[in-house]
Order: sequence, then C-alpha cells, then structure tokens
Amino acid sequence: MSAAPAPTASNGDDVSRPGHVAIIMDGNGRWATSRGLPRAVGHERGVEALRRTVEAAQKLGLETLTVFSFSTENWRRPASEVSALFGLLKAYVKRDLDRLTREGVRIRVLGTRAGLPADILALVERAEQRTRDNAKFNLCIAFNYGGREELVRAAQAAIKAGLEGKLDPDSLNEDTFEQFLDTSDLPDPDLLIRTSGESRLSNFLIWQAAYTELVFMDVLWPDFGESHLREAIETYMARERRFGGLASGAA
Ligand code: IPE
Ligand code: IPE
Ligand code: MG
Repeated sequence: MSAAPAPTASNGDDVSRPGHVAIIMDGNGRWATSRGLPRAVGHERGVEALRRTVEAAQKLGLETLTVFSFSTENWRRPASEVSALFGLLKAYVKRDLDRLTREGVRIRVLGTRAGLPADILALVERAEQRTRDNAKFNLCIAFNYGGREELVRAAQAAIKAGLEGKLDPDSLNEDTFEQFLDTSDLPDPDLLIRTSGESRLSNFLIWQAAYTELVFMDVLWPDFGESHLREAIETYMARERRFGGLASGAA
C-alpha cells in the first residue's frame, strides 16, 4: 500500500515562514462588556483590528490571510447582534474594497451563501468579481462559515458530479475531494491563531487545519495588532512540523 502524499507547508520554498495564516477573531464581546460598553462596540473595534491585521499581514509578506468573521453557529445569537455583524461586514467591504483592489488583494468569501440577505450576497459577489485577477495577496473572509457545513456541501457537490457522470467515484481521494471545498484553490493554513484565550476550533477549517500549527493567544481581538501577529509567527517558526514523519535529524 502506498502512503498518502505528505502534506507540506504552503510556501514550499521557505518552510520556516508561514504563507497562509488563519485567525479566529474572538473576544469582541468580552472586550466591550469589560468596559461597560455594548457588545456591538466590541465588534466595531474588531473591524479596526481586522484592518490593522490585513495591513500587517501584507507588510510581513504573508500570501494568504483567512479570518473567521461569522460562523453558521453565530445565528444562535440575538437578532440584533447578528444584524450588527452583517452591517459591519457590509461597511468593511464598502469602505475598503477600492483600496484592497488597488493593492492587488484578491478577496474570497468562504461559507454558505444560503440564508444570506440579498444586499450582502450582492456585495460579496462584487468584491470577489472585482478582485478575481489580483494575485499579490489573498484575503479570505469566512462569513456564514462552518467546517461541517462546508464538508456536507462538498459531499453533495461530489455526489452530484458522480450522478452527472463527471466524477468517477473510484477517483475520489483527498486531492479530488478538495476541489469541492470553498478553499479549493488555496493551500492549507500553516498557522492558525485564536485570540481571547479559548482553545478550540469552533468548527473553523476542520478539514484544512488537519496539520496546521495552532497558536492560542490571550489577547482579545479588538486589541490585536502587528505585534501579536509577529509574536504568533515567531512561535510558529520555533516549532517543528513533522506531518507524521520523524523529527529532522532523527532518521
Ligand atoms: C468574536 O467575538 C466575533 C464573533 C464571534 C462574531 P465574540 O462576539 O465571540 O466575543 P466574545 O467571545 O463573546 O467575547
Ligand atoms: C468563533 O467564535 C466564531 C468567530 C470568531 C466568527 P465564537 O465566539 O462563536 O465561538 P465559541 O462559541 O466560543 O466556540
Ligand atoms: Mg466568542
């Protein structure tokens, strides 16, 4: 039996530096309530942290940044908070799209489009269309995203392709299955950061993060900035990725 091909770091030429960083932007609510402010203010400050972090990621030479901004489970929150979060995504894309387009950023929105209001859908499609030929930096926004939902949608698409005669079921393997994921043309994240001190994935990139290095930081998301991103990258660079093999020098 031949072994599955070993996963590799996303930027094959320099495995010590992460090419793709994913972030679970958590702690907006706690940031606000600890100051006696409404949670929505924490989310507003969270957008500022996102802006700073995208800029820092570009400056530090990353290729791809994927941020978790609204999960399929976040629908469980009060309607007022959900609509505040939707409003903030709209405001962010509207305000930053021209600049990001000029800077060569390609925007992708991961997650299901089902259940999204028409104005958000139109904006998401416009952002993806306008930036589709950009290749300097990838910004992926996971919005209405859940890892299990993504896997079920991918399975549905694979079954459909099979029924239509476009996919031989025997040819389905890890590589061919990935084509049905929202991240089909992206490398897996090398480093995943979660802020706010929680140590869980909360259904984020559960397929893609199989071999990702996880870094949990105590900082609340609205306080996050370039120094935290640098710190997480340094932690990552001090780690040894083995992908199931042996430690270097052990063979
Ligand atoms: C992250 O902050 C933003 C979203 C999940 C949308 P939270 O709103 O989860 O903040 P905490 O975890 O309640 O502090
Ligand atoms: C994960 O954070 C989702 C986002 C950051 C968008 P949550 O705050 O929703 O996660 P749990 O509920 O603490 O696991
Ligand atoms: Mg949270």
